[in-house]
Amino acid sequence: VQNGEQVTTTPRRRNQRATKLPGRQDWSSWPHYQAAAAGFRGYWYPVGYSSQFTGKPRQITLLGEKIVVIRDRGTVYALKDRCPHRGVPLSEGNQQFPGTISCPYHGWTFDLKTGNLAAAITDGPSSPICGKVTQPTYPAEERLGMVWIFVGDGEQPHPIDEQLPEELVGNAAVVGSRIQPREGNWRFACENGYDEGHAKYLHRTALWRLLKPMPVWNETRIIQRGRWIYRVQDKQYWTADFPGLGRWDNQAWFKLRPPKEVANIGNTISHRETNPVIAAQEFPGFASVSMPGVLRIVYPTFIHYEFYVPVDAGNHLYVGVMASFQRGWRALPFYAKYLGFVRWLFHGQFSGQDKWMVEVTDAPPEKLYRPDDSLLKWRKLAEDTCEERVERLAGQGITVALPEVD
Ligand code: FES
Repeated sequence: VQNGEQVTTTPRRRNQRATKLPGRQDWSSWPHYQAAAAGFRGYWYPVGYSSQFTGKPRQITLLGEKIVVIRDRGTVYALKDRCPHRGVPLSEGNQQFPGTISCPYHGWTFDLKTGNLAAAITDGPSSPICGKVTQPTYPAEERLGMVWIFVGDGEQPHPIDEQLPEELVGNAAVVGSRIQPREGNWRFACENGYDEGHAKYLHRTALWRLLKPMPVWNETRIIQRGRWIYRVQDKQYWTADFPGLGRWDNQAWFKLRPPKEVANIGNTISHRETNPVIAAQEFPGFASVSMPGVLRIVYPTFIHYEFYVPVDAGNHLYVGVMASFQRGWRALPFYAKYLGFVRWLFHGQFSGQDKWMVEVTDAPPEKLYRPDDSLLKWRKLAEDTCEERVERLAGQGITVALPEVD
């Protein structure tokens, strides 16, 4: 009874489709993906800016493992951050001798390259323990002004340049980037980045859309090319086709909305020329994703990347990189724009909406709809790639067990 009147309601008819498709209760269709709460092993991950790693040991957490990172005479080294003697973090120690790191408790001193115990300071120069203890080490490299660390299962790491987006290897690029620790599982962050629907709805209030309008609706196919899967849009529907849905339906005043296609980037709109490095790649789609959780968004004159770095099951590192393939003075306008407003608009407000979503999301269970095909294809790519790795390592005599799922 409302306001003194009786209101009758008709029970809703049950949705037949929903009855047949109760939704996913877990991710068991992709067991490696489901088990990868703390990330995929066998990859390089960016862990911070090069300038953040000095001769002072610093602890990071990657795939749930505590790692000490230290720079010695220009080179960065990474070791397990737990002294094998009594468990004190080596990152609390310091460098007593070049090429080594010493534990702060009893002074066990490890060679940075090999991890071998080089000296036990408190037991004299001929301590018999020396040479009998080896601290696990991690391969470390520097690219894009960042330190990258490989976490594997004892295999020889593949060269980092085989894993970086192809266009970033061998081409000069100027980059603007943001590294931010964030709450939430890395898989949610990755799926959110590649999620077809969210850019049009979650980000409908992002100021970035003033500069880079997005379609309200695409007809999308997912294709794989090499190690990337692409969302290919054959047709696009813009906000003007759906008046009222976006906040800036008439963007003609800004002269940034002529949906003139750029041939080399499947569907990206622009009235400007495409950068030659980007054009040469012939990207079939605007958004693509690759292992171990790298998003690539191609604009005509720059590319935006997001690396979702697993810290542990509940936290990740957001590494956003915007790269412009310019040289010399031509790089200056990019820097000016990035520092002037893109860093705030895109790596700030726009990306902050993603941050919030990843913090509050909770899946599975989940009930999917058509645009989620992009997520299913990403999970399948991950699953297939993991199975290939397990087989490859088995051929090398390394057995990889699937982690337990909580
Ligand atoms: Fe590290 Fe004793 S705990 S030397």
